[in-house]
Amino acid sequence: MSKLLVRKDLQSELKRDVSDIVKEIEGDDLKVVVFMENTEPAPKVKPKVIRFGPTLTLLEKLAERGQVEPGVAKVMFFSPSTGRSRGLTPNMMAGFQYIKPGVSTKPHSHNMASIYLVVRGRGYSEIDGEIFHWNEGDVFVVPANAVHSHTNTGETEAILFDVTDSGLLENMGILEFKEKE
Ligand SMILES: [Fe+2]
Repeated sequence: MSKLLVRKDLQSELKRDVSDIVKEIEGDDLKVVVFMENTEPAPKVKPKVIRFGPTLTLLEKLAERGQVEPGVAKVMFFSPSTGRSRGLTPNMMAGFQYIKPGVSTKPHSHNMASIYLVVRGRGYSEIDGEIFHWNEGDVFVVPANAVHSHTNTGETEAILFDVTDSGLLENMGILEFKEKE
C-alpha cells in the first residue's frame, strides 16, 4: 500500500539555521528546495459540451469583421483550470475555423500537431507543398512544423474543427508559431 504525498510547504522550517548559505546560492531565477517536495495534484478539468449553434453565430460575425484575416474566423476553447497550458485538457486544445467561399488562410506553421474534422463545406489544404482535398466529414492531419493553409473551393462556408497538442507544448514553454515573411 502507498499513499499520495500532497505538497506541504515545509521549506522555511527546513531552511532554518542554513538560510544564510541558501541565500548565497540563490539568484534572480534560482531557488533552493531543501529535501524533495511532494507533488501537488492538478486541478480537475470538468467535463463539458461546447455548443455548435452559438459558436457558429460567433464565427460568422468574426469572419464578417475579418479582423485577423479577411473572410476567416478562428475560435479556440480552453479550461482555465489547466493553468499555463491553456488547453481544453492539460495536453490538448480544440477550436473551429470558418472560411468564406473562395478564401484561403495565410500559410503558417507551428510545432503543435493538428487533427482536423471537416464539419461543413469542401476545399483543400496545402501541407508542406502538397495539396490534400477534403469534403464534409473527412479528417486530415497536419504534422508538427508543417507549413499549411486551407482553401474553401465550395459555394458555402467551410467549417473545420481541430484538436491540437498545444496545451502540452505551452505547458513546457516551447510552443512556437511561424508565419511566412
Ligand atoms: Fe495552423
